[in-house]
Amino acid sequence: MPDFERRSVVVTGATGNLGHVVVRAYLEAGAHVAAPVRDAAKGRALREAVGAHADDGASRLLVGEADLADRTSMDAFVERVLRTWGRLDVLANLAGGFGTGPADDIARIRALWEQNVATVVVPATACLVPMRARAYGRIVSVSAAAALKGGRNTAGYAMGKSAVVRWTEALAAETKDQGITVNAILPSSIDHPVNRANMPKADPKAWVQPEEAAALILFLTSTEASGITGASVPITGRT
Ligand SMILES: NC(=O)c1ccc[n+]([C@@H]2O[C@H](COP(=O)([O-])OP(=O)(O)OC[C@H]3O[C@@H](n4cnc5c(N)ncnc54)[C@H](OP(=O)(O)O)[C@@H]3O)[C@@H](O)[C@H]2O)c1
Repeated sequence: MPDFERRSVVVTGATGNLGHVVVRAYLEAGAHVAAPVRDAAKGRALREAVGAHADDGASRLLVGEADLADRTSMDAFVERVLRTWGRLDVLANLAGGFGTGPADDIARIRALWEQNVATVVVPATACLVPMRARAYGRIVSVSAAAALKGGRNTAGYAMGKSAVVRWTEALAAETKDQGITVNAILPSSIDHPVNRANMPKADPKAWVQPEEAAALILFLTSTEASGITGASVPITGRT
């Protein structure tokens, strides 16, 4: 496991299924973790769920309310992280969500764009400020295998997730000489209670396990992954 001792990591989407596992993995690797959340009750549940990993004298888990799609709100959250730990090294962009709708449903496409693109780009613009100041940063975003091909009723989701891939490449090109790497991962179905309920006949063991996605996220945001930027890495479990 990569060493994140003294690293300060922002994880968005921390209240979700993958988020809990990723936060726990960073804490186990020694990181200080900051989670901007939109729902205070879910933030408390996160703290309770991973508390044993964070409770080592000085708390290494900061949970605060923030609007991921709002730059002022994210600037204030980043400021709080810097006041608390004095540094910000990593942004793991996990927030997002699946949704269906026909390709001519503009309202649905706009909503999925906000949910999957704004929640990735805005936190990054806020986190880039301290990363550029210290000439060190790691950004990883969770796109999806669905980014690679549109299908019936997937326009909004596929557009949003493929936009994350192209944005990743563009930002990587702009930061490659600034000590900052920017990558994305493309999971197929992740083992998740909602997927289990929606696909009762499927074998969830074949899906990407959250721990497998977390291991890839930690590697791509480690110091050792300095040579990887602009990449979108598929992770498909055993499907
Ligand atoms: N599950 C899969 O099969 C799968 C496959 C490929 C890619 N992905 C991607 O993997 C990432 C993590 O998914 P997951 O499986 O952990 O899903 P999840 O359990 O639904 O968690 C999603 C997380 O994103 C947050 N979020 C969603 N929309 C938001 C918004 N507009 N503003 C702020 N926060 C928002 C949620 O916050 P709340 O808790 O407040 O709702 C939650 O923390 C997502 O980007 C998802 O698209 C998932």
